[in-house]
Amino acid sequence: MNVLMVTSECAPFIKTGGLADVAGALPGALRPFGIDVRTMLPAYPALMPLVAKGKEVANFGDLPGGPGRVVQVEAEGITLLLLDAPQLFDRRGGPYTHEGGQDWNDNHRRFASLAQAAARISFAGLTGWKPDIVHAHDWQAGLTPVYLKQPGGPVPKTVMTIHNIAFQGRYAAFEGQELGLRWDWFTPDGMEYHGDISFLKAGLAFADRITTVSPTYAREILTPRFGMGLEGLLNARQTVLSGILNGIDTDAWNPGTDPALVQTYDAGSLDGKKANRTEICTRLGLDPDHDGPLFCVISRLTEQKGLDALAGAIPHLVENGGQLAVLGSGAPELEAAFKTAAEDHPGKVGTYIGYDEGFSHLLQGGSDAILIPSRFEPCGLTQLYGLRYGTLPIVARTGGLADTVIEGNLAAQRAGCATGFLFDDVSVAGVSEVLDRAFRTYATPGDWQGMQRAAMSQEVGWDISAQAYADLYKEVLAE
Ligand code: ADP
Ligand code: GLC
Repeated sequence: MNVLMVTSECAPFIKTGGLADVAGALPGALRPFGIDVRTMLPAYPALMPLVAKGKEVANFGDLPGGPGRVVQVEAEGITLLLLDAPQLFDRRGGPYTHEGGQDWNDNHRRFASLAQAAARISFAGLTGWKPDIVHAHDWQAGLTPVYLKQPGGPVPKTVMTIHNIAFQGRYAAFEGQELGLRWDWFTPDGMEYHGDISFLKAGLAFADRITTVSPTYAREILTPRFGMGLEGLLNARQTVLSGILNGIDTDAWNPGTDPALVQTYDAGSLDGKKANRTEICTRLGLDPDHDGPLFCVISRLTEQKGLDALAGAIPHLVENGGQLAVLGSGAPELEAAFKTAAEDHPGKVGTYIGYDEGFSHLLQGGSDAILIPSRFEPCGLTQLYGLRYGTLPIVARTGGLADTVIEGNLAAQRAGCATGFLFDDVSVAGVSEVLDRAFRTYATPGDWQGMQRAAMSQEVGWDISAQAYADLYKEVLAE
């Protein structure tokens, strides 16, 4: 079976969040099921060296954003189809934003071009390869199922995955003409959203199947609180909606071999975490002789992640003997709050504002617990990395966090299956309360280590979920 993935990020080439990890790991995870994946990705500056090495397999003079060619190249075990359209993608800044943080003002043309190139490849096929399934990820790929509705020969089936419903790709209706979208699709059960066009809604309306990245989030997005205005359409399409939990790349995230750690370790040598902790302390100016728990945060700093509540609970964390290491970037007010916290609590709170893949591994390796107080979380990957590294996740009970962490209550501890701590109220009081539970358990080293070992033995790889995607593809093909 052939699958064309359409995505705006893919690790290790270009990453702003978890979508990249998923797009980077899925092709390899699906291979044992006889699924041949090719991944369509924009050729951002970081990809240009690969473009130079690749082979042109398609050339379009008239995508919505002008000409573009598709270059195929193998890298890191992935067959990439890079959309080489320098006027759209070969520019300094992030995949979606200027260096100043504002969205590029031609994002509608950029990602409509990605979707259209994917659709045209799907119609025509490449020499010796044609997709049976087109799998589009998030709003950036949302128009792919729409363009595939054009007449033009046998059409592959489409799957649309929601990684985050908060980002919808919403543009003025008049842009639709320029993007080659048909006016009769501009309806409330199609791509129309409050008088605008929504790329995500369009994908959700036109795809044969809709998935999201955890079972709990699949239920949550049917409600107004989590559906962000798309709950009506999702309820109408409930029979084709399912949740498939993300896995992680257990080779890239393996505390036994991780080159980013100063000392590797496994469940039988948890002492190895200490040297990593010392290194974290050195890098962040934290007191290395402190003997309370070290908590970490590795996150985009946004409203979604609930880190304002954590920031408010920092005095409580410090007063109770904890240390905190923060790695993240994003909203200026959150960056400022964590920088101030580091100044207010020297030796106890350390903040690194920025993006650093290697440091994120070290933090998982050397911390005792990772804090994820998200208001909503489609899946979340950092709690899965935490489990794998024996860094106990302390998480809000929502989305994929609720599906992956087993609360350390007495029964679970006695059964030896507790792996973390969950709480419901994303507020300063709620975070303080869950921290108290973590402190109590930490005070009994045997209990804490038991949880670390249970966490490290939890199945967090892709096997089960890759099987679920393979089954879904087969099911939709059989229709
Ligand atoms: P989201 O996709 O909503 O940001 P996830 O938990 O699914 O949340 O994925 C976040 C990914 O980005 C993880 O791989 C995490 O380690 C990584 N990450 C987030 N912030 C940083 C950072 N500042 N530096 C390095 N890695 C980061
Ligand atoms: C999104 C979500 C996150 C999820 C990731 C990968 O960015 O916010 O919860 O883990 O996508 O699916």
